[in-house]
Amino acid sequence: MSIPADIVSLDDYERHARSRLPEATLAYVGGGAAGETTLRRNRDAFAARRLYARGLADFRNASARLRLFGLSLEAPIVVAPMALQRLAHPEGEIAMATGARAAGCGMTVSCEASVDFARIAAAAPESLWLQLYLQPRRADTLTLLRRAEDCGYRAVVLTIDAPVNGVRDAERRAGFTPPPGVSAVNLAGFRQATAARVAPARSPVFRGLLDGAPCWDDVAWLRDQTRLPLLLKGVTHPDDAERALALGADGLIVSNHGGRTLDMQPAAIDLLPAIARRVAGRVPLLADGGVRRGTDALCALALGASAVMVGRPLFWALAVGGAAGVAHALALLATELEAAMALTGRPTLADIDDSIFVPDAPADACGRAAAAPATRTRRQPAAAARAPRRLSRLAPIPTPESLDP
Ligand code: FNR
Ligand code: LAC
Repeated sequence: MSIPADIVSLDDYERHARSRLPEATLAYVGGGAAGETTLRRNRDAFAARRLYARGLADFRNASARLRLFGLSLEAPIVVAPMALQRLAHPEGEIAMATGARAAGCGMTVSCEASVDFARIAAAAPESLWLQLYLQPRRADTLTLLRRAEDCGYRAVVLTIDAPVNGVRDAERRAGFTPPPGVSAVNLAGFRQATAARVAPARSPVFRGLLDGAPCWDDVAWLRDQTRLPLLLKGVTHPDDAERALALGADGLIVSNHGGRTLDMQPAAIDLLPAIARRVAGRVPLLADGGVRRGTDALCALALGASAVMVGRPLFWALAVGGAAGVAHALALLATELEAAMALTGRPTLADIDDSIFVPDAPADACGRAAAAPATRTRRQPAAAARAPRRLSRLAPIPTPESLDP
């Protein structure tokens, strides 16, 4: 699969994918809940952030690497769990995992994956987490968990924000149903909640769709079933973060499900600071929703995330270029993040904090921000002792060919 030469950003992948995928798939993947207010906010919140460019920091030991819940990452980027990736590419999750591994990024495999967990694990041993939805029957949840453990998945991500699907207008208008041959194969034979026979003029939600929906007791139960690290995804309220930690969660993912569940939520990165304050470093946080640029990832890290997850753009990259497309998209994002770190004067992930932001209030701009040194103020070695350094350029930007996994 060759990658069009005019793809230089994640949004370019979306543009190309839109001319290749069927309308109904575009609506399912690209759409959000209801009026898509949350979906828009996820992007707008990044656009509203304003960054200080800071020069002259010392970059000789610069790095964006990170170890996180069993993964060794070249950059703090993990593929978000997304169902049914064979909608995008015949090899689906296998190609996604191959691309993520080639780029040194992690991947969270959805329990609604369209390929068997073991086959995905074979493509990318050591770089995977498994996302779970608690199943109506605990025995089925345990089956998923044991399979993940047996295949070497490094952590379990329990998604808590979708006891029912969001009301997704675009998807319903397009009449999306997975085409023949694309299904959640790892859930085959499991009991699923279904609406009872509902009179046409009644809502199905309280008439069957919530049967077996998980509650906090189930989280406590799950915690006792595995020694793998347990992350909760879809945490948006500090009280829920506290409760998750009390139950033994090892990490939290601040997420509004990419605007696909409850509409009218704030942007995920606007939810992050309050949770980061409450958690106060007790466990690592991740965030997702609308991350499209290295500067977006930088903002999320500055607001308290250890890493970001990325969803839709990687689905588009998978559709356009298979594994090579995914590797290329992730490398573009990692390159942009490192460039953003370089241009804001942050040599390491530990140097990224909220002093990257130009404060909104003018009063602040003359006070707090101006006073806060952005980088360490240790003495620099004498000029003569320092290795001569070229003015660094962004070349070579990863090309699709150089990344073919
Ligand atoms: C998702 N998401 C998701 N989340 C989850 O926990 N389990 C899942 O199976 C899915 N499936 C899924 C399918 C598709 C097509 C999309 C687009 C999303 C949500 C996903 O993990 C993530 O939270 C958002 O996609 C992040 O937002 P962006 O990066 O897409 O803006
Ligand atoms: C979605 C479900 C699978 O967002 O989480 O489509």
